[in-house]
Amino acid sequence: MCWDIDRLLRETFVRATEHHGVLGSTNDRAKELAAQPDCPLPYLVVADQQTAGRGRGRNRWWTGRGSVAMSLVLDGRTWPEQPQPGPLLALAAAVAAARVVAPLAPQGRVGIHWPNDVYVGQKKLAGVLVEAPPGKRFVVGIGLNLNNTLAEAPAELQSTAVTLRDLTGNEHDPTDFVINLLKRLAAMLRQLTTQPGVISKAADELCLQRGLTLMVETGGRTVQGICRGIAADGGLLLATTQGLLRIASGVVLRHSPSRDA
Ligand code: BTN
Repeated sequence: MCWDIDRLLRETFVRATEHHGVLGSTNDRAKELAAQPDCPLPYLVVADQQTAGRGRGRNRWWTGRGSVAMSLVLDGRTWPEQPQPGPLLALAAAVAAARVVAPLAPQGRVGIHWPNDVYVGQKKLAGVLVEAPPGKRFVVGIGLNLNNTLAEAPAELQSTAVTLRDLTGNEHDPTDFVINLLKRLAAMLRQLTTQPGVISKAADELCLQRGLTLMVETGGRTVQGICRGIAADGGLLLATTQGLLRIASGVVLRHSPSRDA
């Protein structure tokens, strides 16, 4: 893909960057960089193609030709140690991505599926993988289906994924897109320290699962309930037969199409 690296450096908070044609995983490369004490931060890794793109848990990530695969190495000393910034950091990235996508896809309902996926309607457009390697650094990986097409995607993604190009019929300049994303993310990262509630509120407003019956695997058990949005700490609010639960981390196994708004 055609990146303007100079512009990325000039117009965003990123201090150093590297662009790879083919890479295993930008998160893996970012973690190598995070281990180097003199690595300039924030550091951005982008790749046109990933051969081992990873997602949360056992998820794999398809990096189709024209998609955005990027990982940012951030200095974790910027944020207070408690509570752990991980969930809100990942939500900040998802909110930033959703806000950049929304005006480009006015025909779709752009929002978030907890814990931090970006959806257009019922289909996944982007995923976020935050990792915390040793040394108070965070890696924020974002995969977003920008100019790739589902015509080239594996069969199992055909009914669950969407790309911006397929949605709009247009190609989008990757540099413009990522600059916009990084600017929004930088603003939200400042809020992570000063007003973390702003991030969870924005995510809650964008939550597309509200009113849906969700089945969530958390802490070795499965819980079912009606989604009531996203809590102040980034957890999922689920109305169950036991009352309102706040789920700090977990995997949504499935949701029912019925809606109880
Ligand atoms: C998920 O859907 O579970 C998260 C997917 C995150 C994918 C991105 S692509 C860039 C970065 N490098 C990776 O290997 N994963 C993330």
